[in-house]
Amino acid sequence: MRSEALTASPDGRGDPLSGRRVLVLISGSIAAVKLPQLVSALVQRGAQVRCVLSPSAEQLVSAVALASLSRSPCHVDADQWSHRAARPLHIELAEWAEVVLLAPLSATSLARWVHGMADTLLASTLMACEVPVLAAPAMNSAMWAAPAVRRNWRELQSWERVLPLEPGSGLLACDRVGDGRMASPELLLLALESVVLAGCRRDWQGRRLLVSAGPTREPLDPARCLTNPSTGRMGVLLAQAARLRGATVDLVHGPLAVDPEWLEGLHCYPVGTAAAMEAALERLQGGADAIAMAAAVADHRRRTPVPTKLPKQALADALRSEWEAVPDLLAGLVRRRPPGQVILGFAAQSGEVLEQARAKFARKGCDLLFANPIDRAGAGFAAPDNEGWLLGPGDRERHFGPTGKLALAHQLLSALAEALALRAPLPVPVTADP
Ligand code: CTP
Repeated sequence: MRSEALTASPDGRGDPLSGRRVLVLISGSIAAVKLPQLVSALVQRGAQVRCVLSPSAEQLVSAVALASLSRSPCHVDADQWSHRAARPLHIELAEWAEVVLLAPLSATSLARWVHGMADTLLASTLMACEVPVLAAPAMNSAMWAAPAVRRNWRELQSWERVLPLEPGSGLLACDRVGDGRMASPELLLLALESVVLAGCRRDWQGRRLLVSAGPTREPLDPARCLTNPSTGRMGVLLAQAARLRGATVDLVHGPLAVDPEWLEGLHCYPVGTAAAMEAALERLQGGADAIAMAAAVADHRRRTPVPTKLPKQALADALRSEWEAVPDLLAGLVRRRPPGQVILGFAAQSGEVLEQARAKFARKGCDLLFANPIDRAGAGFAAPDNEGWLLGPGDRERHFGPTGKLALAHQLLSALAEALALRAPLPVPVTADP
């Protein structure tokens, strides 16, 4: 766990977690040992934090450490009823919270919650909460696969105000490799920020989104390449925000400079060159309901590859004569688009944005185009914030930002979902007449 990654928001313009009242509920899974550092990161990002430990979590993590790191008493079962308290503690905590982080969520706490049992401080607090809950299970892979847990987890998917964050796969503390590993603290923070910005909406459930992100890298020779300063941040945040809103996401990406944990839960296809990106996009396009083409594709590449490093003079000659244009991948996607698919393009502009964007929108033929300036302080490549114009059907033009890239990702996803609903509404479930 890298502490600098935990304490920096992906959104630069006013950290959305700052000043928020975050209630952290910790139940009995060994992943609980990751929570003290996460609590500390929340406090460093300006959140007010209070913690509750379930009886099993008390065995795994120190209440004293959590109290110290959260700058607030850490509550355990023995505190629930006291003749010194004017109001029940679980009600007080539930009413205090603006957002709840339930991590790790054990099989037992999941069962208690789903079946409406309020027999611990953690369970009764959770039941009394009327605010969004980010729930991150962690358990052994056989337990995670057990029919009772599957049923309880499925039940949770339809609950309003709950964002169920699927655990990942990996080496578990029991030495098994498999599903059941809690989402990383870096992703939990990103998801919590997403809940603060966009709530627990699951409007992308049942949809598949294909996203491209990052730069491509065109080799000049084995030692040099042509690329650009894109970090992939906008595309990755768009992909993860869509996943949190229920989408299945394929991410085709060049070399990225973002937290690797932000890729958890996405289907990733790393590529180097524009040709490799084109091939991956072509392969995946057919299954996608929508595409967001956020990659900064290189405009030119060498005509013929060279196997050995060029001496300086030969390189200078090659730079003069050896180039060809990279085909426009977005234009290819638009040409091959199946009925109902919606495509969002991006436009990186310097100077006057809107006029150039209008021309590009007309030229590219995509459904939506987000044009952003790359020459303004604090926006564009690598910056945590962004702003720009979203151009859509019927000459619709909307200005977004300046705002954090995660907030912007949510706004773009809403616009994309709107366009998608018009083009290809999700089938309405058929219900039998009573
Ligand atoms: N794009 C693409 N293939 C390329 C170049 C760009 O698919 N070879 C896509 C980008 O992913 C983006 C959109 O086209 O969604 C606009 O990219 P941008 O770099 O702004 O524009 P260009 O088409 O490269 O035009 P110019 O460089 O002249 O501004």
